[in-house]
Amino acid sequence: MSESSPDHFDLVVIGAGPGGYVCAIRAAQLGMKVACIDKRGAPGGTCLNVGCIPSKALLHATEVLDETKHADAMGISVGSVKVDVEKMMAFKQAGIDGNTQGVTFLLKKNKVEEIQGAARLTAPGAMDVSLLDGTSRQITAKNIVVATGSEVTPLPGIEIDEDRIVSSTGALTFDTVPKHLVIVGAGVIGLELGSVWRRLGAEVTVVEFLDRITPGVDADLAKNFQRVLKKQGINFMLGKKVTGAKALKASAKVTIAPASGEGDSETLTADRVLVAIGRRPHTDGLGLEAVGVTRDAQGRIETDGHFKTNIDGVYAIGDVIAGPMLAHKAEEEGVAVAEHLAGKPSHVNYDVIPGVIYTAPEVAWVGKSEEELKQDGVAYKVGKFPFMANGRAKVNGTTDGFVKILADAETDRVLGVHILGAQAGNLIAEAAVAMEFSASAEDMARTCHAHPTLPEAVKEAALAIADRALHM
Ligand code: FAD
Ligand code: NAI
Repeated sequence: MSESSPDHFDLVVIGAGPGGYVCAIRAAQLGMKVACIDKRGAPGGTCLNVGCIPSKALLHATEVLDETKHADAMGISVGSVKVDVEKMMAFKQAGIDGNTQGVTFLLKKNKVEEIQGAARLTAPGAMDVSLLDGTSRQITAKNIVVATGSEVTPLPGIEIDEDRIVSSTGALTFDTVPKHLVIVGAGVIGLELGSVWRRLGAEVTVVEFLDRITPGVDADLAKNFQRVLKKQGINFMLGKKVTGAKALKASAKVTIAPASGEGDSETLTADRVLVAIGRRPHTDGLGLEAVGVTRDAQGRIETDGHFKTNIDGVYAIGDVIAGPMLAHKAEEEGVAVAEHLAGKPSHVNYDVIPGVIYTAPEVAWVGKSEEELKQDGVAYKVGKFPFMANGRAKVNGTTDGFVKILADAETDRVLGVHILGAQAGNLIAEAAVAMEFSASAEDMARTCHAHPTLPEAVKEAALAIADRALHM
C-alpha cells in the first residue's frame, strides 16, 4: 500500500482504552498520521465503559447516600432517604457518555482517525478490520501498538451469565438491590462493588481464597481496612474457595470449601453472585499467532524496555502486558511508546505507580510495602500518624485510618507511603511526586502543609520517622 493511501498510517493503535487513546493522541501531537481502532462502539476501553468510571459513579452516589443517612449529628435531618436504582444507573451512564464523548472529541481535535471495528493482524504492518457497519477494511502501518486490555478471569466450573452470576460488568448494572450478594474474591473489584451494594442495603458476603484481603497491599493497611469494612456490615469468609455456583430461577447456590482442601464444604444461597478473581490479558481474535508475537505463561504479550514485541514494528502496552492492571499505568506506557517511536527519550518509573481502592475510607499506596522491604532485606524506618489526631479529620468525623511512611534507615529516602483514610486517593499524589523526586522523609516533613487539611497527616507521618510528630 502506498504511503499516501488513506489506509496507510505511521501508527495504528489497536484498542481505544486509556493506554490506546492516550498513545494515539501523543503520537499525533508528535506529528504522526495515526488511527485508533476499537471494536466496542465507544472509545475509552474497559476503564470508561465498564470499569473505573461507572464504578466510581456508583461509589460516589452511594457515598452521598451514606453521608446523607448519617448527617444527623451535623444537624442535617432529611427524614427517610429513598433510592431509585434506575435513576442512579442513568446518572452512571451520563458519566460514561460524558467521558467517552470527550475522548472522541480529543481524538478528532488531534486528527487521529477513530475506527470502529475489530482488528486482526494478517502480517507485520498489516491488518484486516471487521468494521461495526458490517464491511471490512485492509489497513497497513509503519508501526502498530497493541492496547487490547484485559477481560475477566473465569472461575472453572462457574458460568457467568451476567444475570444471576455476574462479572464486574453485570454488577455495575443490577436493576434492583440484591438481598444477598456473594462475592468471590476480596480484591479491588470485590470490595469496591461490595461497598456499593452494601450501602444500598444488600447483605454482602465476600469469599476469599487467601487468609487476608487485598493481596499485594501492605498487610498492616489491609488488616485495618478489613476491620473497617466489617464494621460497615460486610461479611468475610477467608481461607475459603468457591468450588461451584449454580444459577437457579430466583437465586443461586454457591458451594464453598476450605482453601486447604481439608474440611467440610458449605452452601450459601444468594440472589446474585459476583466473580471477581482477577483479570487476564485480552488477545482473542487478534491474529498474534499469524505474525508470531510471543506471549508469556500468563498470556501477556512479551515486550522489551521500549514496549517492542519480538516482531519489528509491533509494540504492546497496558493490561495486555506485564505490570499492574491500572488505567494510569496504561496511560504512562501509551505516552512512553509514542515518544519512543518519535525518536524521543521515554521512560516509565514502575517504582512510583500509585494504587487506590475507592471505598470509604479509601486505601492508597505508592512504592514498597513493609513485606516487600523485608523480602528485599532493606533496613527501613516507619513513621505512622492516625487521622484521629488530624484536626480536619476530627472536625469532619472521618477519623478512621492512618498514614504510614517507610523510609530507608540509612539515607532517609522515602520508599513507600500507605494510607487508609478519607481522600487517601488524593493524598497519595503528594507522596508520588515526592518519591519521583527521590525525597527524603525529612524533605516531606519540612514542606509547609496548609492547615487545617488532611495532607497534614502526611507531613506528621514524615515527622514521625524521626520521632518528632507534633500532634501525637
Ligand atoms: P482497556 O481499557 O481494556 O481497553 C482495551 C480496548 O481494546 C477495549 O475497548 C476493547 O474493546 C479493545 N479491543 C480488544 N481487542 C480488540 C481488537 N481485536 N480490535 C479492536 N479493539 C479491540 N483502573 C484504575 O486505574 N482505576 C480504577 O478505578 C479502576 N477501576 C476499575 C473497575 C473495574 C470494574 C474494572 C473491570 C477495571 C478497573 N480498572 C481501574 C482497571 C482499568 O480499567 C484497566 O487497567 C484499563 O482499562 C486498562 O487500559 P488498556 O488501555 O490497557 O485496556
Ligand atoms: P484482584 O487481583 O484485585 O483480586 C482478586 C482476589 O480474588 C484476590 O484476593 C485473590 O486471592 C482472590 N481469588 C482468586 N481466586 C479465588 C478463588 N477461586 N476463590 C476465592 N478467591 C479467589 O482482582 P479483581 O478484584 O478482579 O480486579 C482485577 C483488576 O482490575 C485488578 O488488577 C485491579 O488492578 C483492577 N482494578 C482496579 C481498580 C482500582 O484501581 N481502583 C478497581 C477495580 C479493578
